[in-house]
Amino acid sequence: MNILSIESSCDETAAAVIKNGTHILSNVVVSQVDIFAAYGGVIPEIAARSHLETILPVIHQALNDANLTKNQINAIAVTHTPGLLGSLLIGTLTARALAILWHKPLYAVHHLKSHIYANWLESHSVPEFPLLALAISGGHTQILYMPAHNQFEIIGTTRDDAVGECFDKVAKILGLPYPGGPSISKLALTGNPQAYPLPHPMIDNLDFSFSGLKTAVLRSVQQACHLPITTPSFELAHHLTDQMKADFAASFEATACDILLEKLQLALKTHPDVKSIVFAGGVSANQTLRQKAQTSPLNEKSLFFPAPQFTGDNAAMVGAAAYFEIESGTQPTDPYKLNIAPRTNITN
Ligand code: KG4
Ligand code: ZN
Repeated sequence: MNILSIESSCDETAAAVIKNGTHILSNVVVSQVDIFAAYGGVIPEIAARSHLETILPVIHQALNDANLTKNQINAIAVTHTPGLLGSLLIGTLTARALAILWHKPLYAVHHLKSHIYANWLESHSVPEFPLLALAISGGHTQILYMPAHNQFEIIGTTRDDAVGECFDKVAKILGLPYPGGPSISKLALTGNPQAYPLPHPMIDNLDFSFSGLKTAVLRSVQQACHLPITTPSFELAHHLTDQMKADFAASFEATACDILLEKLQLALKTHPDVKSIVFAGGVSANQTLRQKAQTSPLNEKSLFFPAPQFTGDNAAMVGAAAYFEIESGTQPTDPYKLNIAPRTNITN
């Protein structure tokens, strides 16, 4: 089965052709990151207009790279939620139009599900069920229990900020370029993770909280620079030396990773039957997280991380998620009734 998949939920315009859920025939991603580096973050109106310009050439390229015509496509899949509304509209309306014109079944896929299924792409071994998934992106921080394909139970979630958002905000405090996650990771390599002790939230169930960690970094930077707590965050970076920035990056990164992994270990206690642990979403690219996980008690289970090209937003993962939805009996969506950007979570 060949699925043409489309992703446009934030600032990547992407299309891919996936064969039987795991084999990539083509994978095209056009990132808007260079546009938004100048602004220090995504501007939704610019993102939507950029998707509009790029989406048809990207789909065209995906079909060309796969060396397939539309007649050899069996289904169309598209990210329909969550994401920026204008961005989602470009992808969903394009997918809907193609499904109607080409008489193909249409599958609307939840973005987080796609991130999880990135672990099935071109992998020599695949996760075994039941499994725990740690979904860590710019918008989500969740632990999910999956007893089988396409079955999700959210067992822990953030009560405030997502961990990726926290990486991005701390990067801003330190004056590092957008996107914050990769900038922090790079700088942390030359920093001391023990230089600035930062607190862990006192939540005893499987939920997370990251807004306190962000504020703790802010206060710690103000204190290290001998500045009052009224000093605005955007004025702090030029008071820091390069070494202090590296030490803050390393201390923050280590703390954020430890918080994530401690919760996963707690989740293993409540769900001892799991066979695999799957990491998903942009933050799963983080090398410190990967190394810490592999040297922690979690390593008794099989750990899965997406290949580097599939940690961020892409359409290949959408095709994988759609395939396993189809295999699990999900019926296609009537393109005329496609619910664009519904406010639902992965379990709906
Ligand atoms: O999954 P993703 O590409 O988009 C969303 O669905 O949100 O995740 C983007 C997030 C951003 O917050 C970015 O800073 C973070 O993933 N990120 C990282 C790394 N690479 C990307 N965070 C930590 N370490 C990284 N290496
Ligand atoms: Zn994403």
